[in-house]
Amino acid sequence: MLICSCNIITDKEIERAITSLLDKDPWQLIVPAKVYHTLHQRGRCCGCFPNVVETIIRVTEEYHARLARGDMDSITFLDRVRGLRGQFGSHGHEGRSKSHRAA
Ligand code: FES
Repeated sequence: MLICSCNIITDKEIERAITSLLDKDPWQLIVPAKVYHTLHQRGRCCGCFPNVVETIIRVTEEYHARLARGDMDSITFLDRVRGLRGQFGSHGHEGRSKSHRAA
């Protein structure tokens, strides 16, 4: 079903974009502009935004229901932090010289 007639975006495309955003971070705040940015589009008349908001709510509720049932491979918060540590490295010091330590 066509949701956005200005950009010719269907409900399935919007649902996929929302799911991809939730896969990256299930607890992020998703707004229509973020969904359209993911689709490389932007709101023009924005008359479709109320329907997009309803779709965001529905898809997010379904996503979290699946997450709570354990139907999905969930990544815990600590796993994500560990991944970020690997990505950005763990610096043993903050640029301080060891020769000038007070203690
Ligand atoms: S209907 Fe979606 S921006 Fe106009």
